[in-house]
Amino acid sequence: MKTISQLIGCGSYLPQNVVTNDDLAKKVDTSDEWIIARTGIKQRHFASDDEYTSDLALKAAQRALEHAGVDGTEIDLIVVGTTTPDRTFPATAVRLQKHLGCRTGAAFDVQAVCSGFVYALAVVDSMIQSGQAKTALVVGAETISRLLNWKDRTTCVLFGDGAGAVVVKAVEVEEQTNGQAGIISTHIHSDGNLEELLYCDGGPSTTQTAGYLTMAGKEVFRHAVTNLAAVVNEALEANNLQDSDIDWLVPHQANKRIIDSTAKKLKMPMDKVILTVEDHANTSAASIPLALDHGVREGLIKRGDLLLMEAMGGGLTWGAALVRW
Ligand code: COA
Repeated sequence: MKTISQLIGCGSYLPQNVVTNDDLAKKVDTSDEWIIARTGIKQRHFASDDEYTSDLALKAAQRALEHAGVDGTEIDLIVVGTTTPDRTFPATAVRLQKHLGCRTGAAFDVQAVCSGFVYALAVVDSMIQSGQAKTALVVGAETISRLLNWKDRTTCVLFGDGAGAVVVKAVEVEEQTNGQAGIISTHIHSDGNLEELLYCDGGPSTTQTAGYLTMAGKEVFRHAVTNLAAVVNEALEANNLQDSDIDWLVPHQANKRIIDSTAKKLKMPMDKVILTVEDHANTSAASIPLALDHGVREGLIKRGDLLLMEAMGGGLTWGAALVRW
């Protein structure tokens, strides 16, 4: 017998405050035309001042638990992918654990910036396979607006806040096959030599401030296109799958042009790609579970569909997950 990880429910949450490109153009030297042409983004949601990452995570987690039909007290592992924790410590995951009324198991954060959800899923899958957890919550949650430098128009127009969550359950099978519902494989990478391309210029050990997001956009774009193409091929080859086997690409939503490029390399028509970047902008670790939840609730993603998730972020970090929904 083998233990595999099944995704049994999903949920998401976006703060109420919607900010359009035109709204931004009132305080930043930019335009709706420029932002749409370069990124595909039309609007984003921003958390209010008294709304924290754990609040967004809680709402997404509650919706995922409801969708899965699981009570919060059954959860024995919580992993939150976030780069905008409520506090430097403790982890946002333990605050979420408290809000959910859980007292058992383990809760911790994973810091892989925009790849945070894929990293968190990889960690949870390993822990479930090795018998360390039975029912886990995997969350991507960010208030990335707190790190935006409003004097840097090349970055401040690109991001938004939000949270998404999935409930992952241990299931015993005779042997794992690609056709079974569950996580088929995860593939994560990083290259710390590329840190200077995308980083936050603050931190408890350096400036004792949260700092501002800083990015060399063109270079990040170039690495994203190359690394994402490589990691999706790696995921397919590892499982003897073809491009045509994928039902839905559920990509990190940073930039429509990057998503177009990955879809083209996979020979996937855009109607097989879950796209939320237009309405959510780049929500960092939250973007994949937000897109997944959108796809499921809109009735696009159906049980049995093969999903390919992929992301790249600061670090640089990147990764992919193949999941049979
Ligand atoms: N509004 C209007 N003009 C802007 C602008 C804005 N918000 N930001 C930059 N510009 C201007 C620049 O000043 C420049 O003007 P110039 O030609 O007069 O010097 C021009 O637009 C082109 O800037 P450039 O930086 O070359 O644009 P680009 O085509 O590389 O697009 C990004 C910029 C950021 C959209 C693009 O590089 C990108 O998407 N990179 C990847 C970012 C990403 O997804 N990161 C997250 C990964 S997790």
